Amino acid sequence: MRFVAATAMALGLAISASADEPRALPNPPAPHAPGAPYAPAGVPDRIILTVGADPARSVGISYRTDTRQSVGRLELVRAVPGPAQNPQRQMFEAETRALETENGIAHHHRFALDGLEPGTAYSYRVEGAYGWTGWIDFRTAADSDEPFQLVYLGDVQNYIGEVGHRVITQAIRHASNPAVITTAGDFVSQRADMVHDDEWGKWWDTGTMHYASIPHIPAAGNHEYIPGEMPDGSSVRVLGPHWPLQFVLPENGVPGAQVTSFYSDYQGVRFIVPDVTAVLSLGQMEATTDWIREVASASEANWNVVVMHQPLITCARPENTDLIHESWLPMFEEVGIHLVLQGHDHCYGRWSNADNPRRPGAEPAPQSGPVSIVTVVGGKMYALNDRVANEADRWGEGTQLYHLIDFSRDELAYTAYTAQGTLYDAFTLTRREDGAVWIADDLASLPPVRECADDDTGPDGFACTSREK
Ligand SMILES: [Fe+2]
Ligand SMILES: [Fe+2]
Repeated sequence: MRFVAATAMALGLAISASADEPRALPNPPAPHAPGAPYAPAGVPDRIILTVGADPARSVGISYRTDTRQSVGRLELVRAVPGPAQNPQRQMFEAETRALETENGIAHHHRFALDGLEPGTAYSYRVEGAYGWTGWIDFRTAADSDEPFQLVYLGDVQNYIGEVGHRVITQAIRHASNPAVITTAGDFVSQRADMVHDDEWGKWWDTGTMHYASIPHIPAAGNHEYIPGEMPDGSSVRVLGPHWPLQFVLPENGVPGAQVTSFYSDYQGVRFIVPDVTAVLSLGQMEATTDWIREVASASEANWNVVVMHQPLITCARPENTDLIHESWLPMFEEVGIHLVLQGHDHCYGRWSNADNPRRPGAEPAPQSGPVSIVTVVGGKMYALNDRVANEADRWGEGTQLYHLIDFSRDELAYTAYTAQGTLYDAFTLTRREDGAVWIADDLASLPPVRECADDDTGPDGFACTSREK
């Protein structure tokens, strides 16, 4: 893959290589999607809405076309119930950048819209060589702490079109008018033997118009980085070229990782999104720690939620992510982080206190530190480590999950579901009158823990597809 816009090198993001290739399932995907279905065309595609810093007034939008659309255009109107659109339209021109991929040269068109009215329904449409798309509706956040629902997704990454898509379809079907979607990194795999632009096309297939109409909070994973070359010829990894072209983000993050870190305040919830790959491999530990501390300490939100990729506590890898586990876990408690949504480990875990996990029959209890979650959407699975059953409140293996989280002023209600919509985990955080936050759950009511009995027996009775980390 070659960049027309030298985006990745300009970002100067370099990390050391890692080799975590997926374990092969039967019928591995073809190297390249037949018929080039993911090539850019005269019809706009890959349309996505992303949160602004103040989603009541700002959103990011991007879309893709072939090169005939030299500059992207977007029309915006107040949404109305009738089919006749308001003739008083605002027209915006994009920041358009070219990207050469395995599917040819694409134009990516980016818009950062500001000055919108809070709690307001808008319609927009975007233009390609064959004309305008249909009108796409979205709603800005309210300028208050009205309740809302978040869809939280883990790594999609592998077997996206084979099995990943069904989880997201079910999540959207199940959700009750979700206000926001967050994906905690590793959207795609982007390894050397994969067709990266096809992978992104398959990721888009999982949500299509939902991604165009529900604002997204994307966290960058290690698989968002690809091999690259420094000016001196040395081998490095750089942020893949799709990320900065697709996701129009608030740019209020860590100075050394502005393209992949940010925060956003959505109806009484502050979402803080660091780039842990930049922390672990690009020397951004100190700056990111300072930034999280500053952003969380200044928060006046009811709930502070960190969305990041590599987890504080692992369910598969034998060791925790030591650098952040040792310093961020206590810091998150100190600055009032309530929930940490993560991926990377390709298994499921929920930890409220690893030294004293909750067990079936546990009474509601004060919750002083953050509740930490790890989950996965796609088909690559890792085997559970030998700590998780002693440290986590709830765990799982070989299981694709999605999560619906309802936020209101004094309650955060978390649920995890299997791909079939079966409840797999649930808890609430409730703020009492004295300001203390309490956790409550009913672990005894949940179905048995899903895990492999041995290599031949996975949680569904077939072969266990989890591999050791
Ligand atoms: Fe991953
Ligand atoms: Fe990862």
